[in-house]
Amino acid sequence: MELANLAKCLLLGLIILWIQIHGNKGCFETERLALLDFKEFVGSNGLDVDYLLSSWVDNSTSDCCKWERVMCNSTTGHVTELSLNNTRQYDIESISFYDDENIWFAKFSMFQQLKELRSLNLSYNRIGGFIDDTGFETLSELKKLEVLDLSSNYFNNSILSSLNNLTSLKTLILSDNIMKGSFPSKGMFYLNSSLRTSD
Ligand SMILES: *[C@@H]1O[C@H](CO)[C@@H](O)[C@H](O)[C@H]1NC(C)=O
Ligand SMILES: *[C@@H]1O[C@H](CO)[C@@H](O)[C@H](O)[C@H]1NC(C)=O
Ligand SMILES: *[C@@H]1O[C@H](CO)[C@@H](O)[C@H](O)[C@H]1NC(C)=O
Ligand SMILES: *[C@@H]1O[C@H](CO)[C@@H](O)[C@H](O)[C@H]1NC(C)=O
Ligand SMILES: *[C@@H]1O[C@H](CO)[C@@H](O)[C@H](O)[C@H]1NC(C)=O
Ligand SMILES: *[C@@H]1O[C@H](CO)[C@@H](O)[C@H](O)[C@H]1NC(C)=O
Ligand SMILES: *[C@@H]1O[C@H](CO)[C@@H](O)[C@H](O)[C@H]1NC(C)=O
Repeated sequence: MELANLAKCLLLGLIILWIQIHGNKGCFETERLALLDFKEFVGSNGLDVDYLLSSWVDNSTSDCCKWERVMCNSTTGHVTELSLNNTRQYDIESISFYDDENIWFAKFSMFQQLKELRSLNLSYNRIGGFIDDTGFETLSELKKLEVLDLSSNYFNNSILSSLNNLTSLKTLILSDNIMKGSFPSKGMFYLNSSLRTSD
């Protein structure tokens, strides 16, 4: 009997220790690397990422949960929210924000590693399409993704079918894109019926 209690105490102690060690260690390495992939991608568009994402440093001792635009669950240490709105920090009031040359082609497969991501804000990035042909399909591995804000980009209807696979989505914001024409008849089939889109 006493032995069982001792074992329980030890187990509790170990759990507390694990949480403490984990808390000090900060974010998960796979998630840190995924975010650095995004930073590299932004940089590959000729942008000064050491200014735009200055806290996102490539240093294994750097806790990505403390980086700007990143939010983690403080218990699990997983990245849960990314505010990648207006990554280029344009003056969105200016006319030049709407220049065709600002249209960006993106790749989102790197976010696949962020398994606990709940909210992804990609608004005001003037994204017009993808450099791979999977579109948003690769995000289908994110089983907890509930909020996806794609407003103020340059997406057209062709992205809708690649949003099909995002089965956990509850809020999808597509306002201020170029969603001309009708929704594809086969599209949006798998999206949860409780989904709220805002236009
Ligand atoms: C990484 O960060 C630590 C703590 O801020 C610093 O002491 C170290 O010099 C950095 N390493 C590199 C390679 O920048
Ligand atoms: C953090 O994660 C834990 C375990 O999954 C969950 O119970 C808790 O609600 C989460 N906290 C927040 C603020 O989402
Ligand atoms: C991103 O959006 C948040 C609100 O969701 C806002 O506080 C922040 O200033 C925005 N960042 C940029 C660079 O616009
Ligand atoms: C995304 O960021 C914009 C600001 O850039 C903000 O207006 C909007 O509310 C954010 N979306 C969500 C879902 O928080
Ligand atoms: C819609 O966007 C895709 C890229 O996502 C592009 O290839 C296609 O030309 C666009 N279609 C129209 C009608 O603009
Ligand atoms: C997305 O869903 C389609 C069926 O609608 C399926 O054929 C495809 O393999 C899925 N893609 C991923 C990456 O899960
Ligand atoms: C749709 O979302 C609701 C509310 O979150 C959830 O209860 C339900 O299981 C979901 N349905 C599917 C098919 O994922």
